[in-house]
Amino acid sequence: MVITPDKKNRKFFIFNDNKNSVMQVKYLVTSALPYVNAVPHLGNLIPILSADVFSKFLKINGEKAIYICATDEHGTRTEIEAEKRGMTPDEYCKMMHEKILNIFRWMGVEFDNFGRSSSKENHELTQHIFLKLYENGYIFEKEIEQLYCEKCRKFLPDTYVVGECPYCGNPDAKGDQCDECTRLLDPTELINPRCIICGSTPVLRKSKHLYLDLPKLSEKVKKWIESKEWSGIIKNLPLAWIEKGLEPRCITRDLKWGIRVPLKGYEDKVFYVWFDAPIEYIGSTYEYTKEWRDWWLNPEETRLYCFMGKDNVPFHTLIWPASLLGTEENWLLPDMIGSNEYLNYEGGQFSKSQNRGVFGDDIMKLEIPPDLWRFYLISIRPSTKDTDFEWEGFQEHINNNLVGNLGNFLYRSLSFTKKHYGKVPDVKSDENVIKEAFKLLDKYKEELWSLKFKEAVKTLLKISDLGNQYFQKSEPWKLIKEDEERCKKVLRTVCELCVIIAVAMYPVISSSSQKLWEQLGFKGEVKKENINNIPLDIGDHELGDIKIPFKKIDDKSLEKYKEKFRGKRGDGMIKYDEFKKIELKVGEIKSAEPIKGSKKLLKLRVDIGEERQLVAGIAQYYSPEELIGKKIIVVSNLEPAKLFGVESQGMLLAAVDGDNISLATVDKDVKNGARIE
Ligand code: MF3
Ligand code: ZN
Repeated sequence: MVITPDKKNRKFFIFNDNKNSVMQVKYLVTSALPYVNAVPHLGNLIPILSADVFSKFLKINGEKAIYICATDEHGTRTEIEAEKRGMTPDEYCKMMHEKILNIFRWMGVEFDNFGRSSSKENHELTQHIFLKLYENGYIFEKEIEQLYCEKCRKFLPDTYVVGECPYCGNPDAKGDQCDECTRLLDPTELINPRCIICGSTPVLRKSKHLYLDLPKLSEKVKKWIESKEWSGIIKNLPLAWIEKGLEPRCITRDLKWGIRVPLKGYEDKVFYVWFDAPIEYIGSTYEYTKEWRDWWLNPEETRLYCFMGKDNVPFHTLIWPASLLGTEENWLLPDMIGSNEYLNYEGGQFSKSQNRGVFGDDIMKLEIPPDLWRFYLISIRPSTKDTDFEWEGFQEHINNNLVGNLGNFLYRSLSFTKKHYGKVPDVKSDENVIKEAFKLLDKYKEELWSLKFKEAVKTLLKISDLGNQYFQKSEPWKLIKEDEERCKKVLRTVCELCVIIAVAMYPVISSSSQKLWEQLGFKGEVKKENINNIPLDIGDHELGDIKIPFKKIDDKSLEKYKEKFRGKRGDGMIKYDEFKKIELKVGEIKSAEPIKGSKKLLKLRVDIGEERQLVAGIAQYYSPEELIGKKIIVVSNLEPAKLFGVESQGMLLAAVDGDNISLATVDKDVKNGARIE
């Protein structure tokens, strides 16, 4: 069997020597399975949307393609979240799966199947793949010591243990890492470890686990990676890791919710979620079609395009391929990795608990249609470096480019034609303009084939740029009075450009594309068209209702959204325990004097049952005299600090309303040092 790429090096054909037949390669598109426990935010949408755009592009190219995804459901987090809600893990996952799928649907994402990693298909496949690895000698057993909570009757995963960091003394270091000194930790290193579920002290327990023998598989994986035409870190990073030597990976966990390990002595264990999750790409295909083997065990005829955030890359270039290669069963492996860098929110991170950033469930409630999000997110898809979502940038891009350029061209062309003729004039178009548009279209297709999404959107906008300039220069509003024949030619040309744009924009902004399609007088679905054979025989097409396709985002809404998603101060909610740590006392100001060199600070002596010296930034709001005798509220257990060389042994509380500052006080006389609680 010889595989020969066609002229453009994209469409691969297989020439089967014996049967002398030509077969077209098919495409399997995936995006990394989203965790079932979290509502996806704008950044999480990037791989999902990229894969959607690519799969739609393949389909409108006439390729055989499917887009497969699922929720990633196993793991401790799921067990705990379900328990919190009094649900079984399966009930909880079902609910979250629906919720997440709804968000994707709203965004116009069209999966051929959106499965669940807890499906029976995935159970079957994961156990099968494991047993093959086991038979082939790529699995070994090892006894390890782990922290076990006797009260919760659970082995605790790293992130479920907190304790004192042995390096810096931070009392709340997490089992895998200390956030203060950033050192990576093993949970067994923590001093006074606590279970984060119940607070009790876990004990060490021995337990047997299974390991995937990556060192033994590394030669196979290396060969496979070297055979790939990848570039940059996608290729070099895994090779560098192999060079350094891979570590065996533990693939079992002490949990109930997961896929059973089909081996004696492992009845209480399940597979580690990262072992079964990527296998669900296969599982979800299996859920979708009886012909799943055709897709997955026929690698010569299928190309697998995997989209994901950059942190997922090692799993898709090393670990998952290693487990498939170890079966020696000829499974399909990734041909292309479409990875993206992170999307941040307005200079920081997205955080659901802090209410910072836009999440999928919010997005459906705003008055911004899905195509605007799709258009913008694809336009800023972080391909080489982390990028920020910024409201200003969003507004500017939508208003100037989508509305001002693309939408403007579509609307002015179609509404003018509709108003004067009602139909597309049945005359010849300006050949040169159409030719120019097809050149841009070729560039656009080339960019999408090579996953250069940002560039592709720019090229798409160049087609409408071309149209706008042509419309402007031709001045059909004058021609209609002076030269009707010429006017018809111009309008026919702009209508043809609209058809080209309608088909071209389908992968990115599908629902707007379909609406435009109907305005152009087509009856069927634009998705059934072929981008390599766009129908321009539209003479006498009755135009539909011409509507403004995209609306601007106004300043007022922008301000509203910015405020709504800016997040709370601090780190979300605090526990009562944390609040209790702050000691507040009533104090009486005994003396007050300015501090030399500072316009803002006063030095106070305060009686809080004992005498304290405070430095407070209130000189611009209170004179020393008026302060004497006032009863105030003092944080009395704040670490002393020096301000302008003067020690402050606490802090007073005041209400701050812009420049209007008012000391917090008590409304009845109480003794100095009375506790506030
Ligand atoms: N749920 C993982 C994440 O969000 C991705 C799993 S991808 C898969 O990081 F390949 F394992 F499915
Ligand atoms: Zn516990």
